[in-house]
Amino acid sequence: MTEDAKMSGTGLSRSPDHPITRDHGDLVQGIPGKITINTSQLSTEIEALAGFSDSPAPAVTRVVFSETDRRARKYVKDLCTAAGLTVREDAVGNTFARWIGTEPHLPAIGTGSHIDAIPNAGRYDGTVGVLGGLEAIRALQRSGFRPRRSIELLLFTSEEPTRFGIGCLGSRLLSGALDPARATNLKDKEGKSLDDWRAAAGFHGDLGSTLLPRGHYAGFVELHIEQGPLLEKHGTPLGIVTAIAAPASLRIWVEGEGGHAGAVLMPARRDALCAAAEIILAVETAAKGTGAIDTVGTTGICDVFPGAINSVPLRVRLEIDVRDIDQARRDSVLAQLQSACDEISSRRRVVVRTEIINSDPPAQCDPRILDALERGAARHNLRCERMVSRAYHDSLFMARIAPVAMLFIPCRGGFSHRPDEYASPEAIANGTLVLAEALAELSSS
Ligand code: GLV
Ligand code: MN
Ligand code: MN
Repeated sequence: MTEDAKMSGTGLSRSPDHPITRDHGDLVQGIPGKITINTSQLSTEIEALAGFSDSPAPAVTRVVFSETDRRARKYVKDLCTAAGLTVREDAVGNTFARWIGTEPHLPAIGTGSHIDAIPNAGRYDGTVGVLGGLEAIRALQRSGFRPRRSIELLLFTSEEPTRFGIGCLGSRLLSGALDPARATNLKDKEGKSLDDWRAAAGFHGDLGSTLLPRGHYAGFVELHIEQGPLLEKHGTPLGIVTAIAAPASLRIWVEGEGGHAGAVLMPARRDALCAAAEIILAVETAAKGTGAIDTVGTTGICDVFPGAINSVPLRVRLEIDVRDIDQARRDSVLAQLQSACDEISSRRRVVVRTEIINSDPPAQCDPRILDALERGAARHNLRCERMVSRAYHDSLFMARIAPVAMLFIPCRGGFSHRPDEYASPEAIANGTLVLAEALAELSSS
């Protein structure tokens, strides 16, 4: 078989100045030299980024648009510029760093993740996908590879819901999953709006302008820590993500009647917190009740007003997160929770108001990108297993505008969203290497 015939079979094409070379295992790729990950530089950068934090190490707190987030963004943008990438930011602060391909008009291949971190988090969630994505690009540059399609690194704004109550704010906007008018009305818990925050952070312009045209990307791949225990348990260095679970977030307001903790007698009470406590347990019951291991329900926020030991709680705000890889089953939990709220409200004589913050469908990953990742792993004799992502990611929304896939690496104990989150330099290098392989293959086709 001629080289050209082989290339047409794989969808790869010959770039004019670099011959396509054959690798072991009859795999075809356009990488003239060896791809080598600079593990120590990458570790140093991950550590430096973790230094931008509003909590003492090892915890990382980096809430979107805080002064710390702004300094961290500058650190990452400077690294991108130093790598010769062309950097642009949109009106909500999504940051795009482009390695321009030999055919720049073609839809690009995207990679990246987020650098915001929930309060008291670790240093690897999101950052591995951003800095690993950057190192994958630099490794390809060092190898002498020239992409046909541009390769674009993304740093998404506010993947975490900490400030505005909704996750994946940046990727929702650029994929059209969130109406810019609704986004404009988002407020933090002090009542400061998204517009105020982004202006203070130096991001201006119409939020509608963040929408990317369909066809902007030919594919998107996100490298991330697994945030679960399976890869470590199985001793598998890489997880190839086939689907991303469907998340829903609710805000529930409970309003009863306040009063003096000594003077209001028990038969007369309409205690909002007691009602909220029943709702919290109803979340747990509904999630466990599906009998499926993939259904999870969490009440992560419970704000009590007025919040005094000698005052009967008047008002409570709960924020609840329900997820499943099966959307219908996830929705059945939401329905069961709503009936529980109705029953608790009438029995306890409190007003319960439910606001759905988001209720998103799951995403399926693209078989062609999954195969590219598996081929990349095979080239380096790295074992991988297919799995689902129970966490949500910006890729959930990128799937609305492009074929996507995700690549997971193990993290110790499966811990995430806590300060002892840890992924070894070797695990990160494996993921970065295979990401680089996949970016090379996808950007050549
Ligand atoms: C992302 O951080 C998630 O909560 O899944
Ligand atoms: Mn997270
Ligand atoms: Mn993340």
